Amino acid sequence: MTEIDIQFTVNDTVKHVKAEPTRTLLSVLREDVGLTGTKDGCSSGDCGACVILQNGRVVNSCMVLAPQAEGSEIITIEGLAVEGQLHPLQRAFGETWAFQCGFCTPGMLISCYALLLSNDNPSREEILTAISGNFCRCTGYQYVVTAVQQAATEMRATTATGEVQHG
Ligand code: FES
Ligand code: FES
Repeated sequence: MTEIDIQFTVNDTVKHVKAEPTRTLLSVLREDVGLTGTKDGCSSGDCGACVILQNGRVVNSCMVLAPQAEGSEIITIEGLAVEGQLHPLQRAFGETWAFQCGFCTPGMLISCYALLLSNDNPSREEILTAISGNFCRCTGYQYVVTAVQQAATEMRATTATGEVQHG
C-alpha cells in the first residue's frame, strides 16, 4: 500500500512520518516516532493503555488512523515530565503505590492529567469517571484516586504560592 506523508506535533515537537493510511496512530507513535511509553493492550479500544491527548481530547490511539493525526497536537506520557522533573501526578502515583506492573499507567496518567487540566479539585467520583476507560488488572483503583487527589492538592498549593505551574 502506498505510504502517505503525515505531519503532527507531539509533545511540542513537529514530526513528519510516512505511513500506510491503514496504520494506527498508536503504531506510528511507537514504531516511527519512538515513543514507546504509550502501550498496546488490546488494539480494540477496550483497555485504555494507549490513551493520549489529541487536540486536548482523551483518545484511544489504537482507534485513530494515522492520517487522522494530520495537523493535530498530541501529548503522550513522555510529554508530562518537564526538563527531567516528573509531573506531580507521576510523583504521586509512585508515592501512593498507584501502580504495580505499570502497563496501564501511561494511559491512566494521561486520563488523569486531562482531568486536572479542567478540574483542579476532582472528587472521587469524578476521578473514577475520568479513568473509567482505563483498565488496571493489578492495583484496584483506590490508590489512583488517592494519587490524583494528592497531586491536585500539590498543584493547587503551587498555584496559590505563585510558583510556576508544571504541566
Ligand atoms: S490498546 Fe487501545 S484501548 Fe487497548
Ligand atoms: S498496574 Fe498493572 S495493569 Fe495497572
